[in-house]
Amino acid sequence: MTAYRPTFTPRETVSELDRYIVGQNKAKKAVAIALRNRWRRRQVPDDLRDEINPKNIIMIGPTGVGKTEIARRLAKLGQAPFIKVEASKFTEVGYVGRDVESMIRDLTDIAINMVKVEETQRNETKAASAAEDRLIELLLEEARPHIQNSAPQTYFAVGPDGSTVNVSPAERESLRQQLRSGSLDDAMVTIKTAVSQPGPQFEILAGAGMDDMMSNLKDALGNLQGMMPGGGKSREQRVNVPEGLRILTEQESEKLVDMDKVTELALDRVQNSGIIFVDEIDKIAMGGSRGGTGGPGPDISRGGVQRDLLPIVEGSMVTTKYGVVRTDHILFIAAGAFHEAKVSDLIPELQGRFPIRVELNALGEDDFFRILTEPRNSLVRQYEALMATEGVKLVFEENGIRELARVAFEANTRLENIGARRLHTVLENLLEDVSFKAPELTGKTITIDAALVRDKMGEVLEDEDLRRYIL
Ligand SMILES: Nc1ncnc2c1ncn2[C@@H]1O[C@H](COP(=O)(O)OP(=O)(O)OP(=O)(O)O)[C@@H](O)[C@H]1O
Ligand SMILES: [Mg+2]
Repeated sequence: MTAYRPTFTPRETVSELDRYIVGQNKAKKAVAIALRNRWRRRQVPDDLRDEINPKNIIMIGPTGVGKTEIARRLAKLGQAPFIKVEASKFTEVGYVGRDVESMIRDLTDIAINMVKVEETQRNETKAASAAEDRLIELLLEEARPHIQNSAPQTYFAVGPDGSTVNVSPAERESLRQQLRSGSLDDAMVTIKTAVSQPGPQFEILAGAGMDDMMSNLKDALGNLQGMMPGGGKSREQRVNVPEGLRILTEQESEKLVDMDKVTELALDRVQNSGIIFVDEIDKIAMGGSRGGTGGPGPDISRGGVQRDLLPIVEGSMVTTKYGVVRTDHILFIAAGAFHEAKVSDLIPELQGRFPIRVELNALGEDDFFRILTEPRNSLVRQYEALMATEGVKLVFEENGIRELARVAFEANTRLENIGARRLHTVLENLLEDVSFKAPELTGKTITIDAALVRDKMGEVLEDEDLRRYIL
């Protein structure tokens, strides 16, 4: 029986997202609930569990309001195998490009790595102690010719269990103590490491649908290398004790991790907890192509991608190099600005597979102020840190930040509304001079207040041409 991995409660997920994303509460709530539902489903009796389909979500909202950012932060929560793909990157089967099934293969790779890391961590203590034992043997071999004037044969004498003969347990224990205390850190040991041969360098332009074949082929080639001349060789390396311990620990963990078990766990996790974020889904919706140039060409291909996507969202079997993955219970979260195309421009079957729609709001002046000040990685903090590396102290006064928010909002109103991305252009513009001269300003403090922002940005905002090209 698989242990159910603890997951965040919806409230916890939202509060994690709150640390980076301002507002957009409806979207945060929807994804938080969807996440928790995966965990709930796993605990429902078997017969019912199969009936419970994930409630896929479409996030709809203007550009630059946090759709992709929510996905990025969800991924970082690390609660489930997660992949973000861009719908516009895929092409219909039969055309050159990525086919939609590749998203499942990529997600499976992610799950494999995730489980492998966990298994490695679980075996950490074991691996570390095995590595320590091996290092002690190596140290004994190194030391032997010096401590006893023994003949070379004795030096190489190794017991049937791999341990060196003629060493008292006390001797070994004392070495262990020295090793742990760090007093042997400068000693050198010789360690055997496997030489990884760089594979034959070639790139094949995979036609769509050939993705899988290619990945199988590459694997096969990888295995072949072991048999090819020069493959599977090991080499000896002289390293100091801490480095030696690191290499040996790695080798021991490698031995301890059972890849069959990893694969089994990872497949289970992909199928029952996997999340695929399909960004820019509006780009594969029909109609509404910019400038009305939508000839039959792109439309056919977009419709084709949707039709290819459908079985995956609906539930089908996808062959990966780790085995067959059933996609029935993978959660899909799609997002798009839907400026030109509407959700109703998606093929009906696909629309039906995304029952939950959440709208994200356009951002106002107050949101901008909060975006600049609240997140721990806010732009203001980023600039402060960047300038600090040059010995320049940037101080943002509150009224300065308010003014920045106002300028950004005004630029969005007068020009195109590009959401919070406007903050990047405004700040970059404001600080360009400081950024350029920073190395000459070491030791100085630069205060950004409302007057300074008005002074610098006023001209830009007033002048139509400047506005258009600078902001
Ligand atoms: N609500 C928000 N809170 C904090 N930062 C935000 C918010 N909205 C956008 N940002 C910031 O603005 C930038 C663009 O946001 P994001 O990539 O999420 O836009 P989007 O909604 O996906 O737009 P598009 O439809 O153009 O892809 C990012 O740097 C992001 O951090
Ligand atoms: Mg986006």
